[in-house]
Amino acid sequence: MKAAITATAKYLPDGVITNFDLERLLETNDEWIRSRTGISERRIEKDPSRATSFLCGEVAKQLLDKRGIPATDIELIIVATMTPDMLFPATACLVQGIIGADNAWAFDLNAACSGFIFALNTAAQFIESGAHKKVMVIGGDKMSSIVDYADRSTAILFGDGAAGVILEPADEGYGILDAKLYADGANGKDHLLMTGGGSLHPATAETVEKRMHFIHQDGKQVFKAAVTAMADTAAEIMQRNGLNAENISWLVPHQANQRIIHATAERMGLSDEKVISNIANYGNTTAGTIPICLAELEEQGKLHRDSNLVMVSFGAGYTWGGMYVKWQ
Ligand code: UT7
Repeated sequence: MKAAITATAKYLPDGVITNFDLERLLETNDEWIRSRTGISERRIEKDPSRATSFLCGEVAKQLLDKRGIPATDIELIIVATMTPDMLFPATACLVQGIIGADNAWAFDLNAACSGFIFALNTAAQFIESGAHKKVMVIGGDKMSSIVDYADRSTAILFGDGAAGVILEPADEGYGILDAKLYADGANGKDHLLMTGGGSLHPATAETVEKRMHFIHQDGKQVFKAAVTAMADTAAEIMQRNGLNAENISWLVPHQANQRIIHATAERMGLSDEKVISNIANYGNTTAGTIPICLAELEEQGKLHRDSNLVMVSFGAGYTWGGMYVKWQ
């Protein structure tokens, strides 16, 4: 038995930071940002009382509405995030409380930008094993809470956002048909990270002074690794599943940089109209990017029975992976 996506939903806060806004804060410019990343603006949750659980809670409520089921039908909630409200309790538990999913267990999964795909594949195992019939998977990050708006190499990239799906047993031949996930901590751990606030460097005046509670990235290293890993994984998913440029309906890639998306699509031989990109509007929402794309595809009526979707991601860890879904 395979697992199928039976509902999608997204939540993006109203606040907008454009490249021109950033020009006023940093030594950067709209032309540089657009040509190097594809980003024009990003959404920011400006209300400090609204953390990741708020974003994900809004997604969870919409998912229940769209599927037309009560919260008590949900058996498991997985939230993929690297910006939980707090280190504990898990943001998934906060979401469970928000919607009143009293019969669910709940936990967070942190695989950074690959979080949604990792969580979706984890959730699918509970459907495939027969353990559960309704699982909610949400990817969301309030990146503005860890972005250093004095660092032009990262401040331009990230935005806030969340989205998710409900997973249920699939019709024969449909659903999540393949997933191949990877991690490489040996080579990835030093290039994209936040060093402060964990058990290695608990918060002190010094960690604050050294800006250790912000995201740090060696952009060039991560770019090189991301291009290779995303393109290789996409090609592997195609090869394993007999997919080609004609029978793929949509490539749904992680939205980190338009140049990485383009390189992945090129390797797959896909024409631009099959490649989902909304990075111009939202930047990189980390665990939110792929499910936001899915929710927009569904809103636009572009997902049909038999649509073949390939999703690929790359993020801190390093973590990366690909997935093949036949829409039911
Ligand atoms: O989702 C998780 C995975 N993350 C990623 O996939 C991100 C991967 N990395 C990237 O997307 C790109 O490396 C960046 C967009 C972060 C940077 O683009 P780049 O083409 O690799 O630029 P660079 O770091 O090589 O910098 C080129 C130049 C440098 O100046 P010099 O040394 O050539 O004089 C930078 O100082 O651009 C400068 N620069 C900027 N200029 C204007 C760097 N950031 C900016 C900026 N505005 N914001």
